[in-house]
Amino acid sequence: MTEVQHLLAIDDLGEDFREILQWAIQFKQDPDTDYDFKPLDELSIGCIYEKPSTRTRVSFEVGIHKLGGQALTLLKGDIQMGKSESIADTGAVLSRFLDGITYRCFGHDMVTTLAESATVPVINALSDEHHPCQAAADLMTIMERNPTLEGERVAWVGDGNNVLHDLMLACAMLGVDCTWAVPKGYEPSKEVVERATLLAEKSGAKLVQTHDPVKACKGASIIYTDVFISMGEEHLTDKMSDFDGFQVNEALVSHAKSDYGFMHCLPAHRGEEVTDAVIDSANSIVFDQAENRMWAQMSILTYLCNPAAFHAYKELY
Ligand code: CP
Ligand code: NVA
Repeated sequence: MTEVQHLLAIDDLGEDFREILQWAIQFKQDPDTDYDFKPLDELSIGCIYEKPSTRTRVSFEVGIHKLGGQALTLLKGDIQMGKSESIADTGAVLSRFLDGITYRCFGHDMVTTLAESATVPVINALSDEHHPCQAAADLMTIMERNPTLEGERVAWVGDGNNVLHDLMLACAMLGVDCTWAVPKGYEPSKEVVERATLLAEKSGAKLVQTHDPVKACKGASIIYTDVFISMGEEHLTDKMSDFDGFQVNEALVSHAKSDYGFMHCLPAHRGEEVTDAVIDSANSIVFDQAENRMWAQMSILTYLCNPAAFHAYKELY
């Protein structure tokens, strides 16, 4: 039996990452493909959510439909998993019906446990540690503006969280410089930074950690932020005051290139991590980024669940 490929963190896509993004950009631009190309025909993808979602849920459901497949959204509370059945047993059982599984969970070990027992591809739809589908859409959005990615420098301002982890890995994979400014005590995982550093050594990307948002934003082509309190951290109300000075506002973005792009994975807490003036400005590309969740995931699903179709489509452009 060939080994099943999962997507638990963005570096699982290895050398094929750039091609997966190029495929997504091509597919988005191709007016005929919605009608002619159905690589998920007869395939069923189960989408499990233990946390709320707007973008991930809708983009997976619509994207799977466009590719000719069937999406089954399985909400926590409606299925046995975590109550009367283990994650591992659920992975084994669902693999007998489904051709792929997406899973939004709390601890990252939950999605790795599911992947270990599943015999079909498992895609992490956000865990406390990683959000690979977001990073794929993010780099796709940057690549749409600049196909070679040359000269890009991404500045992250905010928490050292799941979204930053995959963003820095994705930048490191593609040779894009990335600086993250986080308050002391909110640094990203050392283990993820080590992985990103190894990838950056190969690609030539420059990775920098700072506690100074102005330093991060100076000359940046992209400024990216996310909520200061992530899902599952709602009880950590004291955390907010540690982010004083980390709001992305007009004063901070004035240090970036004049044509910088403002990015946010959304949902945004306007007035906290970003002001209306920035997120509603002409530099904001947050809604392109949201739309690209769907195109990037369509490419990933085709790559993982029907690799022959992925390569066949690639031959056409
Ligand atoms: N960015 C993102 O994952 O959004 P949702 O929580 O709405 O899925
Ligand atoms: N860091 C946020 C991202 C939401 C898409 C969270 O985990 O809640």
